[in-house]
Amino acid sequence: MAFETVAVVGLGTMGAGIAEVFARAGLRVIGVEADVEALARGRGHVERSTARAADRGKLTAEQRAAILGRITLTTSREDLREVDLVIEAIPEVLDHKISLFQDLDRICKPETVLATNTSSLPVTAVAAATGRPDRVVGMHFFNPAPVMRLVEVVGTVVTAPGVVSEVCELAGRLGKTAVPAGDRAGFVVNRLLLPYLNHAAVLLELGIATRDGIDDAMRLGVGLPMGPFALLDLIGLDTAYEVMEVLFDETRDRRHAPSPLLRELVTAGLLGRKTGHGFYGPQEPPKEPEKSTVITFGIDGPDVHGLGERLRASGFRPSDSPDTVLRCTDRPVIEYAARLSDPTRMVGVHVVGDKVAELAGTALTSPGAAKAARDLMRVAGLVPVSCKDRAGFVADALLFPFLNDAVRMYDAGYASIADIDAAMRLGCGYPAGPFEMLGYLGLARVRDGLRALYAEYREPAFAPAPLLDQLVTAGVSEFPRS
Ligand code: CAA
Repeated sequence: MAFETVAVVGLGTMGAGIAEVFARAGLRVIGVEADVEALARGRGHVERSTARAADRGKLTAEQRAAILGRITLTTSREDLREVDLVIEAIPEVLDHKISLFQDLDRICKPETVLATNTSSLPVTAVAAATGRPDRVVGMHFFNPAPVMRLVEVVGTVVTAPGVVSEVCELAGRLGKTAVPAGDRAGFVVNRLLLPYLNHAAVLLELGIATRDGIDDAMRLGVGLPMGPFALLDLIGLDTAYEVMEVLFDETRDRRHAPSPLLRELVTAGLLGRKTGHGFYGPQEPPKEPEKSTVITFGIDGPDVHGLGERLRASGFRPSDSPDTVLRCTDRPVIEYAARLSDPTRMVGVHVVGDKVAELAGTALTSPGAAKAARDLMRVAGLVPVSCKDRAGFVADALLFPFLNDAVRMYDAGYASIADIDAAMRLGCGYPAGPFEMLGYLGLARVRDGLRALYAEYREPAFAPAPLLDQLVTAGVSEFPRS
């Protein structure tokens, strides 16, 4: 089927972005909203986004005008009679989606493919409510739609053979990569991403680290394009909350229960970028630089992160009467601190990537030693992230369960290694997919880290996936690729 005219119903952040994507690819687009105010807001989204591209020299004024000229706006669904494809991007309320699809089924010509951009709701339920379940699919874009290169194309048990491949081909015309997915809550990306984001909110609530510390650990340490709280603000806290609810309903996995902090912020109307305030406020106070202290320090145990060398290069030398004792470790710091005559001096150090040093203070660490350790890390050219002495500290505690979930997803036969890796790289801008990360981190290290997390939190989902465990036992260093 040749898709030439498409309609996008719902012109919020995602719908407007999707309309722009189609118009950029040369298709005619009809944008539909409930009223003229909502239409004007949708138009504003596309105008700002294309203006930004024009300012950066990515579009000429003529190209921008042509894109805007391909988009017509209406408040009447009846105008969609002749379109080839409709994409729904209205809020995530199943009843509203079902009633919209019933309307579209009545209005649109029989060949029209009806697609939902739902993040997590069952496509099958939407399809079954229409008279054309064989021509209903999920077409899931990622925020910001004009930038992220992934589209998940979700077929159901009743989708006609050929429709999924036609929609995948269309995604290619849009300059996107399609990853086909089965109709399971969260599909590929949200099933892996949202539990990680939710877990970050849980760590924040537990006081394991601060918002900025957690974001720094994941962005600067792990190398993700955004920290979890900046990303939650981009996605919208309400959207994240809704996706978590759907995941929890399907899995009853308590890790999927939305964190109470998310609920509180959503109830308060702090939804992220769309309301100008979420985890980050509109006017963040400038960060006060901490005053440096005079420090004598020592390094206890093997200096696996080369801290001594880094500090010596800046003129700092370990001393025999140290105020602060650094211990490079990914094990509980308190085990080492308890062996010192003065355990208040010890701070655990865990370097993540080559930019971030997680600094784990124990229940006994003195504020002076904690502050001195932060100063030392800055001297060593590392961004300090203070955290509690808990298994996995921050980065491993967030990254390893995500990797474990990816292994379980593959092992369940839901998606291939290549598709999971591509989905996370193209949908979320990750520098590497989870299986690529497992390869360079080492399977044994991740397995052992998961064992430590499980031992500490007794969370069943942190227990290493049996496949991961078996590969380590068999001495395999990375996942076999077909
Ligand atoms: N709309 C249009 N274009 C945008 C944009 C927006 N909202 N935000 C950024 N861009 C464009 C910029 O114009 C720029 O384009 P060029 O390279 O052509 O000049 C490019 O994106 C990079 O932007 P910036 O330089 O301003 O900023 P950056 O380098 O920090 O990148 C980012 C911003 C693309 C958002 C990047 O941080 C990123 O990839 N973040 C991860 C986003 C992510 O994970 N998205 C998926 C969320 S999950 C989801 O959406 C599914 C769901 O159902 C919940």
